This record gives sequence, structure tokens and C-alpha cells, in this order.
Amino acid sequence: MIRLTQVEKRYPGAAAGELALRKVSLQIDEGELVAIVGTSGSGKTTLLNLIGGLDRDYRGTVEVAGHNLAALNDRKMADFRNRHVGFVFQHFSLLDHLTALENVALPAAFLRGPAPISEDPVARARATLEEMGLGSKLGENPNNLSGGQKQRVAIARALLFRPKLLLCDEPTGSLDSTTGAQIIEQFQALNREGYTVVIITHENRVSEAARRIIRIEDGRIVDDGRGGAQ
Ligand SMILES: Nc1ncnc2c1ncn2[C@@H]1O[C@H](COP(=O)(O)OP(=O)(O)O)[C@@H](O)[C@H]1O
Ligand SMILES: [Mg+2]
Repeated sequence: MIRLTQVEKRYPGAAAGELALRKVSLQIDEGELVAIVGTSGSGKTTLLNLIGGLDRDYRGTVEVAGHNLAALNDRKMADFRNRHVGFVFQHFSLLDHLTALENVALPAAFLRGPAPISEDPVARARATLEEMGLGSKLGENPNNLSGGQKQRVAIARALLFRPKLLLCDEPTGSLDSTTGAQIIEQFQALNREGYTVVIITHENRVSEAARRIIRIEDGRIVDDGRGGAQ
């Protein structure tokens, strides 16, 4: 599902030797539930952004779902993200002036090419929210929802186009521990349904829920969770 080979990332303006990722090679297979852990500034978000096609300024090779991401132009990259990747963030990234249902269906409004799914996006959004126990909240604005409800709306949005891969950057970082545990159970359930799930986290109880833990320090993978380091 994911293969990185000798990936290096240097942000513009950083000193020559100052790399956010150093010779990162990594494989994540379809169906895995993986946690990526490391201290703040170690390179976790940088790594996730490269996998998700949000940043193409790197050296080395990033292959996801059979695509070499460096070979995709902007339009193909947008199509790749729509079809293959769902993103979930710490701060939910919902629009307050839209309802929960509108937030979940919103990615369909930005489509330029052919739709990744044949279903009506609003019907799909409604069904997903109902499955997540939010059927009574379809018309609510996010500011009337609890943190856990907001994150479930964000997860429903990530699932809109039925991607195979969910990339989650500190998804429980703004939630209390009980709510965070429920969100992690949600990811475990999605993983059992067949989604490949990658979760960045600081929290031990979150990483313990994963089947594999990748540790990153100062831009290097020091333990890939399969008994390998670099
Ligand atoms: N947009 C950016 N511009 C310049 N440097 C950045 C940028 N984003 C991250 N960095 C730097 O790259 C390194 C890794 O950051 P990041 O991937 O955000 O770490 P983490 O998610 O593990 O906290 C840090 O040294 C950080 O300061
Ligand atoms: Mg980060």
C-alpha cells in the first residue's frame, strides 16, 4: 500500500544539513493499523504529508496505492488523493457555517474530474453519519457538537469517497481520554472493515491500540515496528 525508499525532506530555508526526514525507507501493507510515534518536531507530520501527496518537494521515492507520487501532475495528484486517501486532523478542520451533513459531503463540491464513487455524495454522507451514530446531528453546525462528535464528522468526511487509506495526524490530541478511546475504537473498527489506518500520536494508549508502532527520532526511523531500524 505504501512504500518509501530513501526519502529525504528539507524545508526551504533550512540549513543544508537540517533535514526533516533522513533516508527514510518504510513499507506499510494493505490492511495494517499502524501508529507513528516520536517527540514533537521529529518529522511525523512531514512523513504523513508526503504519504498523502500533500507535499511533493522531497528526494527519494514515495509509492502509494501503486502510484509513484513524484510522477503525478497537480490534477492527477488531486485525483489520487480523492480516490485513495482520507485525512483526519487534530483540530477536525470542519467549516462552522456548514451543517455536519454539508461538511461531510463538501469534498464532492471540489471535484474537477470524474467522481471517485458512483453513489450520490449527499446520500453517502448521510449514511456514513448515521452509521457513526450521528443521524440526529445531520443539520447541526460543528460548534453545537462535542469534540468527539466533531471528530466523527471529520472521519465521515474522510470516508466520503471510500479511500483505502486513512491518514490521521494526532486525531485524539484535542479530546479527553474517554472520547479519545472511542475515536480509537472507531479506527480499529474501520481497520477491521479493511481500511489501512496510519495514526500519528503522542499518546501511549493510542499506540497500544495499533498492531504496529513505528518510532521516529530527528527525522529517522529508529524502529519500524517489524524489528527493523535504519
Ligand atoms: N513548513 C515548514 N517549514 C519549515 N520547517 C518545517 C515546516 N514544517 C515542519 N518543519 C520542521 O521540520 C521538522 C519536523 O516537523 P514535523 O514533521 O512537523 O514534526 P512532528 O509532526 O513530529 O512534530 C521540525 O524541525 C520542524 O520545525
Ligand atoms: Mg506534527
